[in-house]
Parts: sequence; structure tokens; C-alpha cells
Amino acid sequence: MWRLKPCKIIWERKIKVIRDKLIIALDVPTLEQGKRLVDQLHPYAGTFKVGLELYTAEGPRVIDMIKHRGSKIFVDLKFHDIPNTVAGAVRALVRKGVDMCTVHTAGGRAMLKAAVEASREEAQRQGGTPPKILAVTVLTSWEEKSFREEMGIPRSLKEQAITWALMAQEAGTDGVVASPWEVEDIRGVCGPRFIIVTPGIRPRGAPLGDQCRVMTPGEALAAGADYLVVGRAITAAPDPGAAARDILEEMLKFQ
Ligand code: C5P
Repeated sequence: MWRLKPCKIIWERKIKVIRDKLIIALDVPTLEQGKRLVDQLHPYAGTFKVGLELYTAEGPRVIDMIKHRGSKIFVDLKFHDIPNTVAGAVRALVRKGVDMCTVHTAGGRAMLKAAVEASREEAQRQGGTPPKILAVTVLTSWEEKSFREEMGIPRSLKEQAITWALMAQEAGTDGVVASPWEVEDIRGVCGPRFIIVTPGIRPRGAPLGDQCRVMTPGEALAAGADYLVVGRAITAAPDPGAAARDILEEMLKFQ
């Protein structure tokens, strides 16, 4: 029995490193449900992501709940508005002490620049660190045909994602949110220091739901993603803790 102990310690150390790359999406309707998930899952993820559903229902107290539990917080509201409005919204998130937040590249270069500048200025005023500003490229739920037809964009979906990623980098964002299918190309043009956060993660055999451009956790890491965003594959699993552990095990093999 005692011989197992060192293995367990090594496993726990490795997990501590890899868990920083896992972001769990709290797409639930109430603060109570969010709390339960954070309490259950904080050993397995460095960051929790709050998106439109939970933030719209419960507001900024969700941020306080997560910070109070010692985890990092990613507010994913995909701001897309005129530069002045987005700058104000980013300043408000900086004052709440979030670690990461999203703006949408479709808002354009001026809007992205306004978000980056507002974040830096407000953090300086507060004497804190600015959050990572991440620009959302092409949503993981789009597929090629409908993207071209409905958006009327002449480029392929992949070319559009790369074009937006480069624009976001030039505007000064810290990184992008992109599907695993575009990670390798974006890494190729934007370089190793540009953060790539990747949703659209599905363990082999898991239901796709509304997502189209997906990969397994291991494949997405091997493609070059810095962080993986996983929602339903963990939060809707019969045992979310076990699902998170399985994903971390797979990530360990591919890092
Ligand atoms: O449940 P699932 O793992 O599909 O959740 C993915 C999460 O990532 C959701 O919270 C969704 O809003 C977010 N997201 C995404 N695609 C993007 C940007 C964010 O799926 N391009």
C-alpha cells in the first residue's frame, strides 16, 4: 500500500500543472447551481468561465462567488458594440478583478483597441493587473456552408478566423478564442506567445450538441491550444468530477 503513495503525489503534482489549462464553462441558470459546480470542480480546473446565461441571470455576484472560492474567473460576454461602450464595459470588469474577458473581433479594429486601452488604463488606476483580453474569432458552432451563405463573407471560414486573429493581435489583444480546427494555423501566423483559448472540446464519443468544429481534449492541446474550455462534457455528466479527471488524464498524455 505504502508503495502507491509516491505515484499519487507525482500524479497530483502533474494534475496541478495541467489543471491550469482547463477552463470549465458554468452555463447554468442560477448562482446556486454555479456554486455547487465550483465547489465540486475547483480541484480540477484553474479557471471558471461565466457566460451570457449565468451573468444575465445573476450579475456580477457570480464573479464574487468564484473569486471567494480562490479560482480564476473568465467573463465571456463577447462584447460587440461601439468602441466607447465596449471600453466602459471592459473598465467595469477590470474593477471587478476578472482574469480574462472576451470581445468579438467582428466589432472591428477600433473597438478591439479601445478594449485593450481601457483595460490597461483602468488596471493602472486600480493598481492591479489588467485581465487578458481575448478576441472571439469564428464561433465553434458555425460550419463552412452556412457561415459563407449567412455572413456573405467571400473567404473560407478558416481564412476568416486567421484574418480576425491577426487583426486582434495587431490591435493589442492578449489572444483569441478559436475552434480547435483553426488553432494550428493561428499559432503559425500569430506566434507562440499569443494566447489561444479553445472551446468546442468533446471527449471521443460525446454528443456534439450545437458545436460543429470540435476536437478531443488531447487533439486540441496537441494542435497548440493554451487553454481548453469545456462545458457540458463536464457539467452535464452524471459525475462531473470523474468527467473532469478523465479529461485531465487525457490532457496529460498530449501536453
Ligand atoms: O458545453 P460546451 O463545451 O460546448 O461549451 C462551450 C462554451 O464555450 C460555451 O460557454 C460557449 O459559450 C463558449 N464558446 C464557444 N465558442 C466560441 C466562444 C465561446 O463555444 N467561439
